Amino acid sequence: MRRGAWGTRLGFYLAAIGSAFGLGNLWRFPYVVAENGGGAFVLLYVLLVFLIGMPFLIGELILGKATRSSLVLAIRKLNQRSLNSELVQSGFKYSEAFKTLGPILGYFSLLIALLVLAYYAVISGWVMHYLVHFSTALIRDEGFNPSSTLTALLSNGWLQLALTSAHLLIVMIVVAKDVEEGIERWVGYMMPVFGLFMFILAYHTMSLESSGAALRYLLYPDFSKLSVSSLGQALGHVFFTLSVGFGTMVTFGSYLRDKAYTPMAGFRVATVDSLISVFAGMVIFPLVLISQSPVSGPDMLFQTVPSLFDRMPGGIWFGIGFFICLYLAALGACIGLLETIVSNLSERLRITRVQAAIGTVGICFVAAILPALSTSTFSGVQWGDKGLLELLDSALINWCLPIAALAISQVVCYVLKEDIKKAEFADPESISSMKLYSHWVFVLKWLASPLIVIALILQLVGLLRSL
Ligand code: PHE
Repeated sequence: MRRGAWGTRLGFYLAAIGSAFGLGNLWRFPYVVAENGGGAFVLLYVLLVFLIGMPFLIGELILGKATRSSLVLAIRKLNQRSLNSELVQSGFKYSEAFKTLGPILGYFSLLIALLVLAYYAVISGWVMHYLVHFSTALIRDEGFNPSSTLTALLSNGWLQLALTSAHLLIVMIVVAKDVEEGIERWVGYMMPVFGLFMFILAYHTMSLESSGAALRYLLYPDFSKLSVSSLGQALGHVFFTLSVGFGTMVTFGSYLRDKAYTPMAGFRVATVDSLISVFAGMVIFPLVLISQSPVSGPDMLFQTVPSLFDRMPGGIWFGIGFFICLYLAALGACIGLLETIVSNLSERLRITRVQAAIGTVGICFVAAILPALSTSTFSGVQWGDKGLLELLDSALINWCLPIAALAISQVVCYVLKEDIKKAEFADPESISSMKLYSHWVFVLKWLASPLIVIALILQLVGLLRSL
């Protein structure tokens, strides 16, 4: 049992940031921004991080902290009267509806975490491939060739599957051996190094002639570029990047010691995470705009950044450093995902963590076969211009995740007892934190929920139009 595992506040922050920071910031953010036309989407994303993502993140931490359990067990415990608000509105008893829907919600979130882990592991395998190529370029005569490295990877599905398995194995060992806190701390500690890397890279890309256009693209909001599904995509990405909706933050909250001030934790994680994303955009877009061939889709990061190392003095060393950091970031995120599933299953099914980790990774491996072969064997499977991996990503992140996050927030709002929520949220010694509490509840109830419903309806309209 790892309950109360975080003895220090720093340990919790490092682990929470280590899980939030990942491929979502560097791999997914740039290509979703490109799909949605740039600045207006970035603005929407930043607004939604603080308006919706952060309050949701705080809600999940509180749910975990109050019940001392991961999502599935937390929901079960909420059926107890001491935690439940027994709220009745216009004859509708929340606790009754909750008895049937609650367990479904718990497992729905876990299923999302499992499927996301499957294709996330494929992309982590891509990172491994680049790391190996940069490292061996030191001893190879011809050095590093960005385009042949990418082609070799994308055309070889079995190589991708092998890399995916290697990555899943590492994640499994870390989680089964119960050393993830140590590794996540490590990822947290390496963040400043990664920040430094990004800074140096941004310095280089900002001296390219395309930098002005790139900054305009990223920072000038042209709302006509947004589509009906942009709101849903922005929300989905916010949840993905903050690890909200998967139950991850519920698990993390359950390890929090009593006195930790949860709203501040939410604010810090959201700020650091969104800063990194915007920075990543500043590194990548000058390279996108200067590239001769059109750059888009999930391989955008891999098409652009390695070409920068190719033209920088000492680029191979930068390449090695960058991909080590990126790999650690991917590892931290995958550990967070697997930890979520393992903590839920071992608590609920009373199996050991090792059994849960092995079983989950086995299923994950099977689920990873399709996305791993999506650029080779199954490259013909497309909808619009999206391949299998992108379709899976879009279905999970743009549709399932907002639904799961919305449902969890309803549990926090309506089922978790008011006084418990208040005690976990507000610092009794600070009046301002009490005031903040009512703002927080207001945002959850009256702003976030309707906005998610609107976003989903708009996405549906977009989908129907595209048929
Ligand atoms: N937030 C991570 C990222 O941006 C993804 C993730 C989701 C990690 C859920 C853990 C849990 O890459």
